[in-house]
Amino acid sequence: LDNGLMRTPPMGWLAWERFRCDIDCKDDPKNCISEVLFRDMADRLAEDGWRELGYVYINIDDCWASMERDSNGRLQPDPHRFPGGIPKLARYIHDRGLKLGIYGDLGTHTCMGYPGTTLDKIQTDAQTFADWGVDMLKLDGCYSNATYQEQGYPLMSKALNATGRPIAYSCSWPAYQGGLPPKVNYTQLGEICNLWRNYGDIQDSWDSVLNIVDWFSANQDILQPAAGPGRWNDPDMLIIGDFSLSVDQSRSQMALWAIMAAPLFVSNDLRTLNSQARTILQNKAAIAVNQDPLGIQGRRLLREKSGIEVFWRPLSNSASALVFFSRRSDMPYRYTTSLGKLNYTSGSYKVYDVFAEELMPGLSDSTAFTISINPSGVVMWYVLPAVSREQSQGGGEYPD
Ligand code: GLA
Repeated sequence: LDNGLMRTPPMGWLAWERFRCDIDCKDDPKNCISEVLFRDMADRLAEDGWRELGYVYINIDDCWASMERDSNGRLQPDPHRFPGGIPKLARYIHDRGLKLGIYGDLGTHTCMGYPGTTLDKIQTDAQTFADWGVDMLKLDGCYSNATYQEQGYPLMSKALNATGRPIAYSCSWPAYQGGLPPKVNYTQLGEICNLWRNYGDIQDSWDSVLNIVDWFSANQDILQPAAGPGRWNDPDMLIIGDFSLSVDQSRSQMALWAIMAAPLFVSNDLRTLNSQARTILQNKAAIAVNQDPLGIQGRRLLREKSGIEVFWRPLSNSASALVFFSRRSDMPYRYTTSLGKLNYTSGSYKVYDVFAEELMPGLSDSTAFTISINPSGVVMWYVLPAVSREQSQGGGEYPD
């Protein structure tokens, strides 16, 4: 959507995967969906080095609303869990240089049974969000059908635009229609939404990450061309820092989401995040790959019989990113290849190892190299053509 927003994939924090619909503020006050949780996370983004790296969205998901609309038919937050109201929370977030996202659902109810946005309520809800100072809307699609969604998703796009407030628009529409043509029209989605969920919900498990990566890779010929500045495929949240991923698997999710030009919404507890997870999520080179200004989504190039998969993404300044991903479960695998075998044109290249955070010896396209890839882990490279000093002026430097 060409509304000037999200020219690179959005980054921030989203409540759903980690905090779900915990509304028990009596017995679980620190983890329930309340203004306290969102203020806590805003403090962390602002104070722990996230905001400077681009993680600026604080996004509310389902279960924020009161079960009843107000006397003017407007949505209102649960009065016990959001006693200050959303405008005050938005000010708190804006005062820290961050942006606020909110959640709605096109249909009679949200997925968890809270009031939905029916067609006749689209304008009211768009205006309410704008009046509150909201910066992004995720519009879910529970409790509506295909015909309803065909009407409602474009209408909400128009209604948000008509408020005059820049509000980024995340559409769950394709996820409810199987994510593929002919039911899903990616040209239209790119015109009306800034990002869209294509596929099912991520869960806190490595299986879930693999399932998503496999679906996106299997359908990359359809999905990859749909993405670009202002319009992104969304394979769902980062679960790094939660309970299920090993360090290697965490690097894999970060690397693959960077290659896929995916929105980087972390859903974890930033208050208790361990330093390994934080280091991975704050890796500057991985973020630079994700945020590359060309905005070309990457793709899986190869699936070797050995269980090694190679992913590639073209970047600005003739750079590119490579991810060597092991699907093995035995031991680190020594994989031998060359840049030439990976379709690189002849010449010499500089290579930066993203997670080792070190420059590698220079390579020519024909040089065979061997790397060691851990089980369910990755080796990620930032690759630049090696050029003379004069040629390199004005660009072509490493991201950090
Ligand atoms: C759906 C969405 C999730 C989350 C929940 C909330 O399942 O896909 O991302 O928003 O609803 O109920």
